[in-house]
Amino acid sequence: MKKALPFLLLLAAAACSSPAPKPAKSYPIVDSLLKVMTLEEKVGQTVLLTSDWTVTGPSMREGYLEDIRAGRCGNIFNAYTADYTRKMQEIAVNETRLGIPLLFGYDVIHGFRTIFPINLGMSCSWDVAAIEEASRIAASEAAAAGLHWTYSPMCDISVEPRWGRISEGAGEDAYLGSLIAAAMVRGYQGDDLSDVRTVLACVKHYAAYGAPQAGRDYNTVDMSERWFREFYLPPYMAAVDAGALSVMASFNELDGVPATANPHLLQDILRGEWGFRGFVVSDYTGINEMVMHGYAEDVEDAGRLAMNAGLDMDMQGASYMDYMVGLVRSGKVRSSTLDAAVRRILTVKAELGLFDDPFRYCSPEREASETLTEANKAAARKMAAESMVLLKNDGVLPLQKGRRTAVIGALAASKDDLLGSWRGAGQVEAVPVSIADAIGEVAPVVYAEGAKEMGEDRSGFASAIAAARKADQVVLVIGENCNWTGEAASRSSINIPGVQTELLEKLAATGKPIAVVLLNGRPLDLSKESELASALLEAWFPGTMGGYAVADVLFGDFNPCGKLSVTFPRNLGQVPVYHYAKNTGRPYIHPEAKYESRYLDVPNEPLYAFGHGLSYTSFEYSDITLEGDSRSEPGMTELKGDGALTATITVTNTGSREGTETVQMYIRDLVGSVTRPVKQLKGFERVTLAPGESRTVSFTISAETLSFYRQDMTWGPEPGSFKLFIGGSSDNTKEADFNYAE
Ligand code: NOJ
Repeated sequence: MKKALPFLLLLAAAACSSPAPKPAKSYPIVDSLLKVMTLEEKVGQTVLLTSDWTVTGPSMREGYLEDIRAGRCGNIFNAYTADYTRKMQEIAVNETRLGIPLLFGYDVIHGFRTIFPINLGMSCSWDVAAIEEASRIAASEAAAAGLHWTYSPMCDISVEPRWGRISEGAGEDAYLGSLIAAAMVRGYQGDDLSDVRTVLACVKHYAAYGAPQAGRDYNTVDMSERWFREFYLPPYMAAVDAGALSVMASFNELDGVPATANPHLLQDILRGEWGFRGFVVSDYTGINEMVMHGYAEDVEDAGRLAMNAGLDMDMQGASYMDYMVGLVRSGKVRSSTLDAAVRRILTVKAELGLFDDPFRYCSPEREASETLTEANKAAARKMAAESMVLLKNDGVLPLQKGRRTAVIGALAASKDDLLGSWRGAGQVEAVPVSIADAIGEVAPVVYAEGAKEMGEDRSGFASAIAAARKADQVVLVIGENCNWTGEAASRSSINIPGVQTELLEKLAATGKPIAVVLLNGRPLDLSKESELASALLEAWFPGTMGGYAVADVLFGDFNPCGKLSVTFPRNLGQVPVYHYAKNTGRPYIHPEAKYESRYLDVPNEPLYAFGHGLSYTSFEYSDITLEGDSRSEPGMTELKGDGALTATITVTNTGSREGTETVQMYIRDLVGSVTRPVKQLKGFERVTLAPGESRTVSFTISAETLSFYRQDMTWGPEPGSFKLFIGGSSDNTKEADFNYAE
């Protein structure tokens, strides 16, 4: 027989006896529980253990169900389905003394069952509303499978293509990254966390995990506070501002202190400056790893440091489970510190509605009817097409339907690779077609493997070349195996692996124009490919519907509109290369100059700049018109104090088909109390134009747009001269000048 839920009784008692008004979002049930919980029960709420369903880290623990039953573990990750989460929830609710419900977390990174493109790909759509919608869909599918909590958004800015996890983020830019981070939080959490179609977001990896030295995962991070605050911190803050109620500390150290026990990050900034009121979880065994970092004596000491720094929940380390009771008893951790952590965790459980009904998210009916729906798949297909970036096209694209098409490359036939890394509970069985299959639906296809995505096997070259010779048009799909991106997937080279480029060379030698489709999760060195291929379509890992989406773009059913959210270098030696670089004291201006900041063997410019992306139509930009408060001198517009400038530009579709253009605005502050980037993204707008149509796009520039961390570390603008750039890519802009006066 089912036992009455003990916390419901407590709730009733609390409701009758709460005289003083409570601040918003405080729950009587949480107060009541804290009053009656034993020390051991409190510690149990700070423990998060993985189930044995999915492996996302180096250590497993036997007997997690027993841990739940004994009240030692209040939170579980890596388990899902309505049935299984219900089973575990029943243990927590019916078999522990207080019946506090479990919180179920999972890495729902770019979709749960319906897999969207990898996040780096999605960010290239610059379609913030569509990214929010993708997150909403992911949340509804995950929540139907009993999940309450996703470990997303990943807010790590990165300019490091060697790092495999650059694929999980929104690229190199803090402005675009912030808009995307906030949109994802809104998509996951909705307006009401207790809605059964929403899940709790987790802002990760706090902080600066995207800047590991030499691009090696988990490696040391060090940068100035100013650089950190301006170029790395904003997306985390935007996600917290959007209401995210959990944050994951990153594995890395920052300025010598592991983020897991970093009071500057967890207390000064997160709770102090931003007023974050949710809880902080470690990353997988992140607490224990402070011993290897050389920051803690042993795992017990690591637990002490983490809890005292403000880290509320231990993911999989069992440091809190094994030592926190002793640490509190010995006074090394104050009981009030533990109470505060437990309060934060229980408050989030209350916000999720788990105390009203712990089983509200486990719904086999919704799981069956709201997962992988036609609408979800349609959204994934559109997003996949929007995320693709046409890097080069000499006119071979779009291809023609009905013509004999050679489709070459192991990746063209792979359904699995389409899903990318961190594919949630996405299964290859749900992928309807590979790229080759999808092309086969619109044109007669001869498929040849040609080359695998790794290894030295050239035995397929001959038949691939023969297929290309006989075909009217040739598509070559090359790139990275999906396991070569994501966590623990750093590379020391950013070339296309194996013999794939050699195959491209051979195919190009046939004289046939080759349309290359790239599947990969990082900026690659495409210097050879960009010369050999007639067209280059960066398709990333495009998800469940990726096969169709690639065909949609190749054959022109969808006009490509993606723009790079990350710079593509010419070679690894240029790294880091990003659009917001400083001028230096010796900028490279004179072609023959020796003592200027340059390379002898490659240009300074990247191969494909941030913001770059072609279309099957063309766009023309008018000159910029600036309207402001006054004209300080003829032709010079001035922005004054709290006023605003309006920058206007007219964009015309000069081609013969409808297309979407992302109009980008960049700014340069010419002289500052600290040096400023030569170009920095400050605004953008997507416009869809019919052939011949013109649209006026306006951007508002205020003092906030010009603000930065000045020499004294205050945030604000400085008077002086500015340059404004507007265009379709960071390296293709119109310019105007203005002044700012206080
Ligand atoms: C480690 C990863 O760094 C993190 O992103 C992920 O959420 C956790 N493992 C849980 O799987």
